Parts: sequence; C-alpha cells; structure tokens
Amino acid sequence: MKEHFLYAKGIHKRFGAVQALKGVDFEVACGEVVGLVGDNGAGKSTLMKILSGALLPDQGEIYIQGEKAHISSPQDARRYGIEMVYQDLALAENLDVPGNIFLGREVQYRLKGLGTRVLNRKYMERKTKELLSSLRIQIPSLRQRVRTMSGGQRQAVAIARTLLAQAKLVIMDEPTAALGVAEVEKVLDLIRRLKEHGVAVVFITHRLPHIFAVCDRIVVLRSGERVGERKTSETTMEEITQLIVGSKTDAVSGTVQDQ
Ligand SMILES: Nc1ncnc2c1ncn2[C@@H]1O[C@H](COP(=O)(O)OP(=O)(O)O)[C@@H](O)[C@H]1O
Ligand SMILES: [Mg+2]
Repeated sequence: MKEHFLYAKGIHKRFGAVQALKGVDFEVACGEVVGLVGDNGAGKSTLMKILSGALLPDQGEIYIQGEKAHISSPQDARRYGIEMVYQDLALAENLDVPGNIFLGREVQYRLKGLGTRVLNRKYMERKTKELLSSLRIQIPSLRQRVRTMSGGQRQAVAIARTLLAQAKLVIMDEPTAALGVAEVEKVLDLIRRLKEHGVAVVFITHRLPHIFAVCDRIVVLRSGERVGERKTSETTMEEITQLIVGSKTDAVSGTVQDQ
C-alpha cells in the first residue's frame, strides 16, 4: 500500500441543524484517482471544501504525508499542494490563457535602469505552452480570451493552472456537469494526465460511467457518513448505486439522477 498523500480522520461538520459530516475518514495516495460519490446533500462538497481550506471542520484531523496539517484557509491548503477546481472554475473571463494560468502568480521583470516591473509575457506564454503540451491539451490560440472558449477548454485551463502551482492533490467537484460528450472525454483524459504526473485526484460526479472510466477507488458518502469504499476493478455500477441510495429497491442502473 502506497503512503497516503492525505489522510483525513473523523471529520465532523454541522451547519445549524444539519449535521453535514458525521466523523468521515478519507484518504488519497499520490497518483491515485479517487471518485467521491453520494446523493445530493451527502456531504461531498463540504468534505472537499474542508480539505481545500474553504471551510473549517468542527472536529477531526488532517494529515499530509504523515504529518498533522493545519488548513484554515485556501492559502494554507495551497501551501500543502492542494488545489480545488470548482464547477464555476473562477476563471478571469477577460484574460487570455496565460493570463489565467498565471493569475495571482504573474512573472515580472524589472526594466533596466528603471524601477518599473513589467509582466514577462514571453516567459508566461512559453511556460503555458509547455504546461498545455504536457497535458496534451490543444488550444488554437493562447491569446484567446477565456470568455470565448468552450467548457472543455476552460476546464483545461483551470487544470493546467493546478500543474503550474505544482499541485500534489487536485480536487474536482462536478467538473463534467455542464459538458457535452466530447468535452467530457477531454476532461477525463486530463484526469489521467494528472495521474501520470503523480498528482492525486479526487473526482466528484453523479455520472457513474465517468467515475468508472478514470477512478482507481470509489468512496461513497450517504447523509454525512462514509458508507462504502471499493476498488473500481472490484465493483460494479449496480453495487455503487446501492451504496449511494442505501437500498436495493431504489437502485437505478448506471447513473443516479439529480433530484
Ligand atoms: N453553507 C452551508 N450552509 C448550510 N447548510 C449547508 C451549507 N453547505 C452545505 N450545507 C448542507 O450540508 C449538507 C451537505 O451538503 P453538500 O456537502 O453540499 O452535499 P453534496 O456536495 O454531497 O451534494 C446538505 O444538507 C446541505 O444543504
Ligand atoms: Mg456538491
């Protein structure tokens, strides 16, 4: 068994009257793709927001590479190499591809003899090309504003950004929800590329075929509890669906519909 990159233990989180997480354990190894599934309201996003520093747990511990981690903001999480790609992606619509990939990490140089700092566009473009080609992403023009790009291309930019940040864990919360078939394939391929780079990935989606296409392991949450864990190679969509809904009679083959 590989050493876990991240191990979360006994995570509790309450929102008012709602006990969103009831002592959940979660772990992911470097280069492992974990599918996190569960019905709406099961606690998937809450758990991932805790790992990525967007929410604080009420109780529980997080260990990174065996050592206790202190994650109380997204900046803290980033320092540990944890990056979250949100469904809405948080891209800057009016910037082009390098502008987005380097957002907040712009590379500048000082003009000779002057105090002024200037963006090093050449370097950022070259690095952007390298990142995109290492992920085998094709974007016709880097100068294109993100606003004009397709959903799949936008995902690609968001994911390339995590590689620039040298992420060790990338969390993707429903990245394929709004995409068409061909674009979904590209995102699944990007997940495989991240894995090849040794990056750990947590992939949340309602669409079980997508989970089965890329995940090594599947963790199921139900009503804030971890109710099952399976190696993808040792389970079926039927079994996972039963774990999600909690009974055989309600099981729907293949996907679990949004309510
Ligand atoms: N910020 C919040 N305030 C109040 N309740 C919340 C908040 N975020 C999530 N919840 C509740 O916590 C539970 C788990 O939500 P969530 O983690 O978003 O589930 P999932 O991502 O699996 O659909 C739900 O009952 C949801 O309504
Ligand atoms: Mg969610």
